[in-house]
Amino acid sequence: MISPSILSADFAKLGEEVRSIDEAGADWIHVDVMDGHFVPNITIGPGVVKALRPHSAKPFDVHLMISPIDNFLDAFAEAGADIITVHPEAGPHLHRTIQRIKVLGKKAGVSLNPATPAKALDYVLEEIDLVLVMSVNPGFGGQKFISSQLRKIEAIAKRIAKENLTVQVEVDGGIDPVTARQAVDAGATALVAGTAAFKGGPDNYASNIRALRGEG
Ligand code: DX5
Ligand code: ZN
Repeated sequence: MISPSILSADFAKLGEEVRSIDEAGADWIHVDVMDGHFVPNITIGPGVVKALRPHSAKPFDVHLMISPIDNFLDAFAEAGADIITVHPEAGPHLHRTIQRIKVLGKKAGVSLNPATPAKALDYVLEEIDLVLVMSVNPGFGGQKFISSQLRKIEAIAKRIAKENLTVQVEVDGGIDPVTARQAVDAGATALVAGTAAFKGGPDNYASNIRALRGEG
């Protein structure tokens, strides 16, 4: 799965950007929500997600980098998120947060920062649909892929296989055609790409996505 992050799109015409990246072959649309508190940057809220919803029928893969987290789950679900991903550090009760996402009828994801061990998935892995491994420290697009995360991806993918679970392993940050290959070889099933998906403007989106798939 390729999930282009609209963080790298032109914010002055986000609706058009979502349509273009959808038509270019995106599987999901990755929406980075930042609050200036959990991460050192501010992006968009549920109002923008709602406004974008009519522009694509693809799943909205909403990555919440906000704390406290629980008060905003309903708003993002109502706005049209399909996958809601949260960080364990963003609230005191990760299990409860996951249950709430599921009660809202959405797929639940848990995101691990580079220094957060895979062990943070204990007791929740069997409850969730997606693990989002951060291969950069969250907050900004355009950062360099942190290679140590490949080991984490591998460990999580092995654990999912061993436990016979159906959980996507998504990787977020510094993904380009080279690191995409490395992440997939380590067991990733979904890739977020901001810079690499949106570079060069709409005429290049389809070839950017093909390159991430290793199709030249
Ligand atoms: C980082 C975000 C990422 C980011 C990826 O905090 O979660 O989704 O937009 O951007 P690139 O692909 O440019 O590293
Ligand atoms: Zn993200």
